[in-house]
Formats: sequence, structure tokens, C-alpha cells
Amino acid sequence: MNVARLLVVHHSPTHSVKELTDAVIAGANDDAIEGVEVVVRSALEATADDVLAADGYLFGTTANFGYMSGALKHFFDTIFLEAGGALSDDGSASPATGGKKPFGLWVHGRYDTTGAVRSVLSIVQALPWTQAAPTLEVLGEVTEVHTAAAYELGATMAALLSD
Ligand SMILES: Cc1cc2nc3c(=O)[nH]c(=O)nc-3n(C[C@H](O)[C@H](O)[C@H](O)COP(=O)(O)O)c2cc1C
Repeated sequence: MNVARLLVVHHSPTHSVKELTDAVIAGANDDAIEGVEVVVRSALEATADDVLAADGYLFGTTANFGYMSGALKHFFDTIFLEAGGALSDDGSASPATGGKKPFGLWVHGRYDTTGAVRSVLSIVQALPWTQAAPTLEVLGEVTEVHTAAAYELGATMAALLSD
């Protein structure tokens, strides 16, 4: 049986964000989903090889100063060109053409995650990937409703890659 690989890249600096991340990972590893290997990397350790070896992606970040975390930005800065991204003459990300690997995204903040979500999407639109599940945005205290939604996000992405 072919095994697809789902790469989870996250920045989870606090207990509440870890709860969300753990729920996403648990959903991705749901027993009912077969033929998917889940690989988890912190945003500061993930490499371009991790990205190239994966068939789909889940990204998680905090909102910081109206942007994604510096850690996840470091990840994108590191892997962008090797992952198939192209830059315009002004250094902005050019819209991608070609293959479309699925990705999902979750963002945790305390006030407003709009800019953080936008910052991720503006970069990944320049990679040969396509968003395959709605962005999960969570503000403030993480409740069971949020962890259930995070589990669902992980399971949805894994199911998409399952045979
Ligand atoms: C330097 C800094 C900047 C932040 N900027 C934002 C922000 O722009 N929007 C937002 O919703 N939360 C912001 N936050 C809150 C973090 O997103 C939040 O602390 C993080 O998701 C962890 O959640 P927790 O503190 O509830 O555990 C910021 C936090 C820090 C420390």
C-alpha cells in the first residue's frame, strides 16, 4: 500500500496553543484513516527536505504583531525557493503554477488573527499548494469546541491523503 505523508509544521509556544496542536495531530492520526504517515516538526526545525518529501501540509502559528510568528516565517523563508516558490522582481511572492498539494492552517491569537492568516496565505499562494480545509482561527482561551475543530482539521487533511 502506498503511504502518503502529511507534514505538520507548527509554532506552539504556550500551553493553550500546544493543546490545539496536539488535537490537530491526534486528528491526523485518527485510527480510521489508513495509509497516511504524519510527520511533526516545529517551525524552527522543519527543512526543505521535509517539505519535498510530503504530500500535504498542516501549518500552525500564533498571531504576533498582526503577522504569523517569526518561527513560521523563518520556515517559509527557509523552504520557499526549494519548495517551488518564485519571487517577482520586487521580491514579493509570485502566484504559483503547477502541482497543487493540499494544505491546512490553524492560527491562535488573543485579539485578532486576520493579519496572521493573511500573511500565511500570501506566501503559500506562491507555492504549488492549495488550501484544502477552512482556516481554523481561535481567539483566547482554548475550549473543547476549539480542540474538536482542531481534531477535525487534522483528520480532514489526513483523510484527503488517504487511499
Ligand atoms: C509579541 C506578541 C504579539 C502578539 N500579537 C498578537 C496579534 O497581533 N494578534 C493576536 O490576536 N494576538 C497576538 N498576541 C497574542 C498571541 O497570539 C498569544 O499569546 C498566543 O497565541 C498564545 O496564546 P496564549 O497567550 O493564550 O497562550 C501577541 C503576543 C505577543 C507576545
